[in-house]
Amino acid sequence: MAKTHVTMTINGKPMEGLVEPRTLLVHFIRDIAGLTGTHIGCETSHCGACTVDLNGQSVKSCTMFAVQAEGAELLTIEGIANSDGTLHALQQGFREMHGLQCGFCTPGMIVRAYRLLQENPNPTEAEIRMGISGNLCRCTGYQNIVSSIQHAAASTNGGAMREAAE
Ligand code: FES
Ligand code: FES
Repeated sequence: MAKTHVTMTINGKPMEGLVEPRTLLVHFIRDIAGLTGTHIGCETSHCGACTVDLNGQSVKSCTMFAVQAEGAELLTIEGIANSDGTLHALQQGFREMHGLQCGFCTPGMIVRAYRLLQENPNPTEAEIRMGISGNLCRCTGYQNIVSSIQHAAASTNGGAMREAAE
């Protein structure tokens, strides 16, 4: 099958490759870019394990073809840490508040929460739960994930956690 040359920027670095028209973005990220922190749980748009940030929006990368991301700016879990190598506030939050068990959903959760906090730096618990509703976790019961995101928001804002919707 004829292949198409695609280029995109992932975590600030230019990336290119030859793909079939049917190649999913998640397979480009994992198999061509070699960034295997982006997971595949379902390949049917349900679980959110494959979530990346694409041009400033959360996207399930199994729902797009790689050719559709031509020229895009992507952020994956490998690009979340601070530039000095320290953990991002969300990574620190998940560590402090035990936001993971098996960890399979965690990269997608963190990348999704990153965009959530960009859009709403001080979300309520209800807003966090709504914000991550496209990401499934089969281990944690979500409470520790919510607490982890609250921890990150509070540490970033230097303020107290918000308890309820207002
Ligand atoms: S692998 Fe993409 S949503 Fe599950
Ligand atoms: S920590 Fe196991 S699926 Fe979320």
